[in-house]
Amino acid sequence: MTDKPPLLVIEDDPGLQRQLKWAYEGYSVSLAADREAALAQLEEVEPAVVTLDLGLPPDPDGVSEGFATLEAIMATRPHTKVIVASGHGDRESARRAIALGAFDFYQKPIDIDELGFIVSRAFHMANLEAENRRLQSRVPEAPFSDIVTGSPEMLKICAMVERIAATNVSALLLGASGTGKELLARAMHAASSRAKGPFIAINCAAIPENLLEAELFGHERGAFTGAVKTTEGKIELAQKGTLFLDEVGDIPLPLQVKLLRFVQERVIERVGGRKSIPVDVRIVCATHQNLKAMIADGRFREDLFYRIAEVTVVIPPLKDRAGDALLLANHFIQKHAAERPGGPTRLAPGAVAAINLHSWPGNIRELENRIKRALIMADGPAITAEDLDLVDSPDVRPMTLREARALSDMRTISAALAATGGSISKAAKALGISRPTLYDMMRDLGVDAG
Ligand SMILES: Nc1ncnc2c1ncn2[C@@H]1O[C@H](COP(=O)(O)OP(=O)(O)OP(=O)(O)O)[C@@H](O)[C@H]1O
Ligand SMILES: [Mg+2]
Repeated sequence: MTDKPPLLVIEDDPGLQRQLKWAYEGYSVSLAADREAALAQLEEVEPAVVTLDLGLPPDPDGVSEGFATLEAIMATRPHTKVIVASGHGDRESARRAIALGAFDFYQKPIDIDELGFIVSRAFHMANLEAENRRLQSRVPEAPFSDIVTGSPEMLKICAMVERIAATNVSALLLGASGTGKELLARAMHAASSRAKGPFIAINCAAIPENLLEAELFGHERGAFTGAVKTTEGKIELAQKGTLFLDEVGDIPLPLQVKLLRFVQERVIERVGGRKSIPVDVRIVCATHQNLKAMIADGRFREDLFYRIAEVTVVIPPLKDRAGDALLLANHFIQKHAAERPGGPTRLAPGAVAAINLHSWPGNIRELENRIKRALIMADGPAITAEDLDLVDSPDVRPMTLREARALSDMRTISAALAATGGSISKAAKALGISRPTLYDMMRDLGVDAG
């Protein structure tokens, strides 16, 4: 037995095998010369970090077998940090490997010092992520248990929403369609002292303009044709709870004036009524629109904006949440599996690649829909890229090598900061770089301490 961390080296050249084994004295090195042996070792020693030569038999001069191995690793153990060795100058393969979920790459011939640095950085990252997962699973925050994520980007958002929940400020959630705005609004409500009160949602874009006022404010009997009885509006129904105004950017200007009065004074009048009714509600708004631009065009009131956006939460699109697409795909397979007993229960390697390469313009909603479709379409025990309708998708995310590096650095740094509670000196130490270097990288990459 050894307490050195296990490292799996997938390499078919016996000379290189020896060299690498010798170079990694600090790790407990396992060797594999082909895909089958690699996958067996993966199960057996569960290494956090793997180095992978893309040229493996039966295609030692190509990259097909190496990519197949990478996909299989990502499908079975997605947290594994895979460092890919590509031929000299083969940037395209390196780029593709990163897009498929590889942690980093290096170019042959091997520079032991450089590779050693990448390997130790990979172990740091793996440890930080494991620590993050442990912290997250140790405190199952009930209000957030519906939110599936392992990405530093989203964990930060959840922490922020939790902090906001404890206050009574009005929050504005900004995010593209399907990013989970409503889910986060519900979590904010559930984590607040109003959790026992109602959560009332209204989609301002879905209701015809002439009905929206009565929907929001309610109406007295006889206020207009068809108003046969007095009816409370959504605002009143949210009394002592949370009012979620979805697509707030779609509220017409005249109604914005009325809404402003309610937001400022917390009193409403029903349509056709004269009585002022006090309401105690927390307001959460969401929109996919650019309200600042709407203000500039005179389509949204600036005074209302500042009232509803006391804090703003920008929800990242799915493609910017490291590792979440796969995590969510597996989550939705479990969630909907019961709808097709005996259906597929996992993703085929090709599907893993397709999921990692797709840009997800419809975000989590799109992902869930594709999984539901795939569960119906699949013939075998595993969901394929065809089942997901992700073959030759035009939405493949283009990424330059530079971007791939920057993304990898950004994830590593965010994870380090998350694990050290935002302490820059501790994070620098964990990352094995100096504080000034970390500062510079954070500035260049636009990462803040959290
Ligand atoms: N992180 C997540 N984990 C699990 N499920 C999620 C997550 N984010 C979103 N979902 C699910 O995806 C679907 C879309 O989420 P939601 O309705 O909250 O998004 P939205 O931003 O309000 O979308 P839209 O702009 O289309 O209204 C919902 O079924 C929601 O439960
Ligand atoms: Mg919504």
